[in-house]
Amino acid sequence: MDIEQIRKDITDYGEKVFLDSAGSSLMPKSVVRTINHYLLEEEKFGGYAVAELRAKEIADFYNQVALLIGAKPQNIAFTHDATDAYTKALLSISFNNNDVIITTDDDYTSNQIQFISLQKRFGIKIFRIKTLENGELDITDFQKLVDNHNPKLVAVTHVPTNSGLIQNVEAIGEICHNQQITFLLDACQSIGQLDVNVNKIKCDFLSATGRKFLRGPRGTGFLYVSDRLLKKGCSPLMVDGGGAIWKRKDHFELLETAKRFQTWEAPYALLLGLREAATYANKIGLKNIQAYNQKLMLQLRENLNGIQGVKLYDKGLNNCNILTFRKDHKSLKEITEKLTQSNVFYTVSKKEWGVIDFEKKGIDWAIRLSPHYFNTKEEVHTISKIIDGI
Ligand SMILES: Cc1ncc(COP(=O)(O)O)c(C=O)c1O
Repeated sequence: MDIEQIRKDITDYGEKVFLDSAGSSLMPKSVVRTINHYLLEEEKFGGYAVAELRAKEIADFYNQVALLIGAKPQNIAFTHDATDAYTKALLSISFNNNDVIITTDDDYTSNQIQFISLQKRFGIKIFRIKTLENGELDITDFQKLVDNHNPKLVAVTHVPTNSGLIQNVEAIGEICHNQQITFLLDACQSIGQLDVNVNKIKCDFLSATGRKFLRGPRGTGFLYVSDRLLKKGCSPLMVDGGGAIWKRKDHFELLETAKRFQTWEAPYALLLGLREAATYANKIGLKNIQAYNQKLMLQLRENLNGIQGVKLYDKGLNNCNILTFRKDHKSLKEITEKLTQSNVFYTVSKKEWGVIDFEKKGIDWAIRLSPHYFNTKEEVHTISKIIDGI
């Protein structure tokens, strides 16, 4: 990996220390150039003509995203964000009273809100897999929940928003696959930082966003839908003329591909921006990105663990590029003022982003740092010194 070139590919990186790729990362120049260029063409020729002219590149979006997760292009739908993808997946399932969703304590806040909505409207039941002392999912408990409750859906977030945890989604996928249970994976924080492969995970749906570790534009995302579900005729409750063809007065036919999960209208400039981000990541290689990131985070965790008063809120045996911490006797204001003055880009994680997790930890905020492969060891030492000095 040519880190020097990768940093040159960012406009005006300068002296900042950008550690917020779990929030909204820095797009490579080529992504922004692609978007700008497309918009200028739309300005001159109008959206429909340009979409026709650029049909090949638009079609390649599906190839690049499929390559990223080991899927086929026909299993990919463009969406407006991760939540849009997730909601469409959820609304493709015909929930009835007393149907069961199995999820985790660490699933994303919006997912939990949506489960509660389904509970209120359709009377579904929510069960959460037990967590072991070390923060990992208790797979034996999961198997018991499956055996006892015959779930309609299993929904797990691969990498939660607030801790370094990587959930053991392969073990979950294996059980779901063997018992033909629909498995929805929220890969919003893992896409772009980990080598994610749907064939290994055996999920039926995978939802992701563009703007985080994938380094794409805001307002973009994608949904993977398995062949098994497509063949079964699975589609969102509300499909539009982009996902189905109105054939007769009382009859429509779904598209054969996952495009049935898209709407007809799309921001093609952004879609091509996301294609460029996926192409960029594929060229570097997710295995290389993951390996570099692991080294970077090992160093950061070692440094921070060595600073008096700093407490890391990592969970689980395998950790990734999300790190949350606090420092004894230092207020949120003291920490954020120092970080901001030092030109550090970060996020404050709040309790409402993970109520169960934060209650277990007994805190209501933590500072989230999320370095990525364009960061350097020098920056890791710089941020460590800054935190030491707070
Ligand atoms: C784990 C996880 N899932 C889903 C989302 C939602 O993503 P979006 O805002 O693109 O819908 C986030 C956003 O932070 C997230 O961290």
